[in-house]
Amino acid sequence: MCGIVGITSNKQVTTSIINSLRKLEYRGYDSAGVATINEGHLNEVKCEGRVDVLEKNLSKSNLKGTIGIGHVRWATHGIPNSVNAHPHSSESVSVVHNGIIENSTLLKKLLIKKGHKFKSQTDTEVIVHLITEYLKKNDLKKSILKVLKKLHGSFALGIIFKDQPDLIVGARRGSPLAVGYGPNENYLGSDSYALKSMTNKISYLNDGEFCILKKDNVEFFDKKGKKVNKKVLEVSLDGQNYDKGDYKHFMAKEVEEQPTTIKNCVNEYIDKVNSDINIFNFPWKGNEISSIMLIGCGTAYHSCLMAKYWFEQLTTLNVNVDIASEFRYRNNRFKKDTLYIFVSQSGETADTFAALDLCNKNKMKTCSVVNVVESSIARESKFVLPIHCGPEIGVASTKAFLGQMLVLYILCLKISKMRKDIDKKKYLEKIKSLFSLSKLTKQTLETDNKVQSVCSSFAEIKGSMFLGRGYSYPIALEGALKLKELAYVHAEGYPAGEMKHGPLALIEEGMPVVVLAPRDEYYKKTISNMQEVIARGAKVLLITNKSKDEVYSENIWEKIEVENTSEDLLPFLITIPLQKLAYYSALKRGYDIDKPRNLAKSVTVE
Ligand code: G6P
Repeated sequence: MCGIVGITSNKQVTTSIINSLRKLEYRGYDSAGVATINEGHLNEVKCEGRVDVLEKNLSKSNLKGTIGIGHVRWATHGIPNSVNAHPHSSESVSVVHNGIIENSTLLKKLLIKKGHKFKSQTDTEVIVHLITEYLKKNDLKKSILKVLKKLHGSFALGIIFKDQPDLIVGARRGSPLAVGYGPNENYLGSDSYALKSMTNKISYLNDGEFCILKKDNVEFFDKKGKKVNKKVLEVSLDGQNYDKGDYKHFMAKEVEEQPTTIKNCVNEYIDKVNSDINIFNFPWKGNEISSIMLIGCGTAYHSCLMAKYWFEQLTTLNVNVDIASEFRYRNNRFKKDTLYIFVSQSGETADTFAALDLCNKNKMKTCSVVNVVESSIARESKFVLPIHCGPEIGVASTKAFLGQMLVLYILCLKISKMRKDIDKKKYLEKIKSLFSLSKLTKQTLETDNKVQSVCSSFAEIKGSMFLGRGYSYPIALEGALKLKELAYVHAEGYPAGEMKHGPLALIEEGMPVVVLAPRDEYYKKTISNMQEVIARGAKVLLITNKSKDEVYSENIWEKIEVENTSEDLLPFLITIPLQKLAYYSALKRGYDIDKPRNLAKSVTVE
């Protein structure tokens, strides 16, 4: 992963670099660093930990410069410490890198033979020494071309040179990289978001390209070194709210924003007057699609899994779901009449992007469901459906999950109607039930007190299971993922009916088990499975919806009831107590909720 930034200006750059790095912390936050050139010297300040620590160290060191590069790291090669933190520098060159150099071991051996001395355990340091080596006999552009040819793997790079104190080189393969244009200064960044406080004029490097940034001009080159022209895009300076407001954590705020997420999405995609779906210019006809393949990672994968149930229920299509890192290496049978749907909050996840790229190369129909509309996945998809959630900062995805599910549900209805799989009455009923979803989400958020009291017990536990059937199974997976990510508790999501084929052996006296049993077609079966775990000593937290029929509650430890809606929309509501369960469990344990250990928001390595 990692985030990179570079600025060349006629003003001091360290403060702006720090501000941009803060915005890039969603990509990694285990160490950070800055390098500048000042009065003919390359200087760097690096530290283990967050940008806050770096800022303190910078204020002590008085680092100056009108040109500089900065980095936030998510460790791949080498533990997070100040030596392995980027930038990595030789006497003459300093480099920041996002990605993985797959042939670094071999290159390192060759460079050591030539007398190069390595300080860190990182793969990145080979780039520094390679450039230093090539610069001995070649000019800058030739050296860059030679280095890029030598590197295997994925990278976005920012490079400064002691002897060229007016320029930054940027290069990308696999990992994203943006260039921003300002008055008498230009910028390099992992994304446009990092640069938005400085400019809204952005260009994106295509795969294999590199650029040379000076404060008053930028040149772009393809992998052969031929100059390429770039479009300058005006991205929205969206005035989005990037702070926590009165909330303790971004996650708490984002969970509470979910009724608005749903409202925005419904307003965007549903024509209330005509009770119809506003998805215009959908490029394919109903009869051109006979199957759907949904692809994502992490929480986005769970929304794909959820969509499979809806597509199977409401259309006659064949539906498959895959984890992007598996799909991209599978021997896929690409079919012209399959619609490939890529789901990603950030739109930058490396595996999801690679899976999309593979489908595009095979000339498939590709559509993406993203939150960041300027992202690589959005740019490369043939059709894009934004989820309109606003920025999601907490590493654990919450409001984006509900947004992704909602857009997929609406897309499912749209395709179902196009293919005449759904009759008019049912279609109108489904559209109508969407109108109340925001309000019901808001009411469900009010289960807060109940969840808080349950959490005091959850905070102590060593492990847990989350069980569900049908629509509730993907939500069980998501609930378990949230608890793992935030409270560092081993949690497993499992199909309730599958317990007896192995995992039941794990159940012992007092083990907490979360059972998701809304009153849907699977309710009775799930309740039977619940009894099986209770009989073996499990302490069951039952999550169901409000109903006139009393649930069989003997021997249940606790019960949380969400609001009532149609069966296929209940997953939206039962997700909410699970998000809160993870949040309060982590809070009680004193963990960093918005930046859980070892994780990052945007995973740009495979
Ligand atoms: C990381 C995040 C998860 C997210 C996953 C996929 O692992 O921590 O919250 O679900 O990436 O991210 P995407 O941006 O593609 O949805």
